[in-house]
This record gives sequence, C-alpha cells and structure tokens, in this order.
Amino acid sequence: MEKFLIEGGKRLSGSVTISGAKNAAVAILPAVILCDEGVCKIDNLPQIEDIYCLEKILTDLGAKIEKESKDCISIDCTGINSYIATGDDVKKMRASYYLIGALLGKYGKAEVYFPGGCSIGVRPIDQHIKGFEALGAKVTVEHGIIKVNSEEGLKGANIYLDVVSVGATINIMLAACRAKGVTIIENAAKEPHVVDVANFLNAMGANIKGAGTDVIKITGVNYLKGCDYSVVPDQIEAGTYMIAAAATRGDVTLINVIPKHLEAITAKLIEMGVDIEEGEDTIRVSCNRRTRGVNIKTLPYPGFPTDLQQPLSVLLAVSEGRSIITENIWEARFKHVDELKRMGANIKVEGKIALIEGVDKLTGADVVATDLRAGAAMIVAGLVAEGCTTVSSIRHIDRGYENIENKLSGLGANIKRIKTEEKEFECD
Ligand code: EPZ
Repeated sequence: MEKFLIEGGKRLSGSVTISGAKNAAVAILPAVILCDEGVCKIDNLPQIEDIYCLEKILTDLGAKIEKESKDCISIDCTGINSYIATGDDVKKMRASYYLIGALLGKYGKAEVYFPGGCSIGVRPIDQHIKGFEALGAKVTVEHGIIKVNSEEGLKGANIYLDVVSVGATINIMLAACRAKGVTIIENAAKEPHVVDVANFLNAMGANIKGAGTDVIKITGVNYLKGCDYSVVPDQIEAGTYMIAAAATRGDVTLINVIPKHLEAITAKLIEMGVDIEEGEDTIRVSCNRRTRGVNIKTLPYPGFPTDLQQPLSVLLAVSEGRSIITENIWEARFKHVDELKRMGANIKVEGKIALIEGVDKLTGADVVATDLRAGAAMIVAGLVAEGCTTVSSIRHIDRGYENIENKLSGLGANIKRIKTEEKEFECD
C-alpha cells in the first residue's frame, strides 16, 4: 500500500504538460477491437492504471500490443477471436462496459461482466441497454454477466436517450458503426471525449457525423482498418492543475491543452478573481489574492463538469464568503467533504447541495481518497493546508492521474509517495 505525504504551503509555479484524456482513452482502446485489418497506433495515451488494465484485458482477448514510446502503443486486434470478457480485470473498471459495444459491433454478440456498484452514486446502464436493444440485440444478465446477442445482425435505429449519458452515447456509437443502415442518437452527450472517440472511429473508416452536437448520425460500414491516432488532452487533469495553481496562489502554465474544452472552469476561476491567459494550446493560471466564493451547478458538457466539482470544492472552502455547489450528475459525490472537514473546512451537505462557508485556512490531517476525483481534491487540500497531510487509498488517484507527484513536484510542491501498512479504503 502507498500514500502521499504532502507538506502544504508551497506556491506552485512553472509549467506542466497535460496527458491524454483518460475518459477518451478508456473508450478508444476497446474501440480498437472493431478493427478488421492492420494496426492502430495510439499516441498521447495517459500512463495510468485504467489504461494498463485495459491493455491487459485486450491482450487476454488475443490482441498484440507493442510499446512504441512512453505514451504511444500499437495494437493489433486481428488475433482476437473471443467475444467473452469476464476476467477479473474486467470487474475492476467501470469503463469495461465499452467492451460490450465494441464486441457487439464486431461479433454480433458479447459477454462482459456487468459494471458493479460505485462510490459516487448508482451508475445504471439502462440507456446503453436500450440502445443495444434498439439495434436489434437481445440483452440478458446471468450470474453478473451481461450477455448481448444480435442473431440477425445489428440494424440501424433511431435512439432517443432519456438522460444525457457519455457512456451510452459512446457504447451505442461503437456498436452502430458496424450496424446495417443508419443510426441516429438523439439527446447525445457532447463531451470532448465523445467527439474524440467518434474521430478515432472515423479514422478507422467509420461514418459518424454530428459528434459534439446532441444529434449523432452513424451510417454503418462493414469494414474498419488500422490508423494512427493521438488522444485529445485531458480537460479534467488540466482543470485539476488550474485549481491547484489558483488554490496555492501560484503561477502555472499548462501545456498541451485545448482552451475551448476548459471554458466552464476558466469562466468560474475568472469569476473567483483568478487571472487566466489562453494561448493556442496553453493556459496560464495565476493568482495573488484570496479568491471569492461562487456558486456552481454540475451539468453535462458544455456545463461545469462533475469531475471537477470535488477539486473545486477545496478552493471554494478557502475562498472568501459563501459558495453553493449543486451536484446534478452523481448523488454521492460529496464523500470527500467529511475528509475536508477534518482539515477545518466548513461545509454542510444536504442531498445534492453543498453549502460552503469559506475559512481562512485548512490544516494538514490524515485523509482518505474515497474515489478518483476525491483523491485529487485531497491532494489540492494538502497543497493548500498548513503543515503535513497524508492521503491514503491513492490507487484511486493512480487510476486517472499520470505521475501526479512528479508533475506537482516539478511545480515546486512538496509531495512524496510513501509505503504504508494501512488497509486501503475500499470503493470502486
Ligand atoms: C462518464 O461516466 C465518466 N466516465 C465519468 O467520469 C463522468 O463523471 C461522467 O461521464 C459524467 O460526465 C468515463 O467516461 C469512463 P454518464 P458515465 O453515463 O459515462 C445517468 C471520472 O471521474 N445514467 O454520462 O458512466 C447516470 O446515473 C469519471 O473520470 C442513467 O440514468 O456517466 C448519471 O446521473 C467518474 N442511465 C448521468 O446519467 C444510463 O444508462 C450521466 O452518466 C447511463 C447513465
């Protein structure tokens, strides 16, 4: 077991390079299964546990993976001859649900472990299932395994999503790009990673139009080929460093970002009194004063992303005045608040609302990363707090942040990964 030891109070300064987007990459790797011929070379791949786990799952299915450079791999999926993904690694990660859409598109059937419970709230997949059924697949769940089968082949359909879902939008795209005829997804998610997966599928020869709007049109093709592709920069990792820069009253330039994807966080930071300078693929964040509290409501893109709600709550906790967070996406995404309270934050949670009264300072404490973004929030809190903070259960953080301690140390933070005998906090 490992934990982070952080000595707070250091101003972050300098530059940090943002990695490829986790939530795009975890869909692009399963999407490679759809390739009929050739090799997919995937660049700007984040070096995180979720990606290592997916590489193992693909290898177990029969894919050949070669490392081309630090963040580039080539994948040859032509050796895959199984539509069954029920190994232990599949259970470990939520995004393995993308294996269902990819295997269904390729083989007309799939058997994949049902994604389990979660620490940020119930995570249903009814909209994914609705999409697969509309395409002509029969869906059953047996012994925790979701089985989809389209005996007569997939046929394009009109699918209206009842909720805006990133996962359902991508999963339906994966299956539909090999269906006969045209599929229309209405009320589709518009996140940059949805667009990135569509761009990747199109680079393999798919015919997908409208990704990034709420109507996506997919005309099925019967053949996909290998391609070279570079994953879009991670807007959530970028947002986390922007918040850390502001919270430590630092001056940090982020390299390899798409400023347009960061508009929601940029607008909120400016409202709080932070200075932001946008370049073509850089953002400079500087702050030399106490920030003002603001209200945020999490919403699907282009609204304020739920994945940055937890890190931003730390900055709000030390901002002047009152802030209100309304979490509209996940009902249990305030578990980090109890940890922040140990550090002196004044926050009340009622249902999906968190009421924050800004305090002058946080003080170091032993806290737990209850999930991925809660872990990032605890690191930001540790950077801001007076004295030392330890953050345990950091395997959640390693799932989604590449080399976070080295990137932060490069900006002047005092953060170390240390071994511990303590039991990890268990969540998903
Ligand atoms: C993706 O999860 C991300 N994960 C999440 O990031 C992110 O929080 C979420 O999108 C929202 O932006 C990945 O991309 C791997 P959804 P996903 O389907 O696709 C409801 C992180 O920290 N819903 O867009 O699972 C659902 O309950 C992670 O990186 C249904 O009701 O989320 C939620 O309220 C955590 N039925 C809302 O829709 C469904 O079938 C949005 O969920 C599907 C979803």
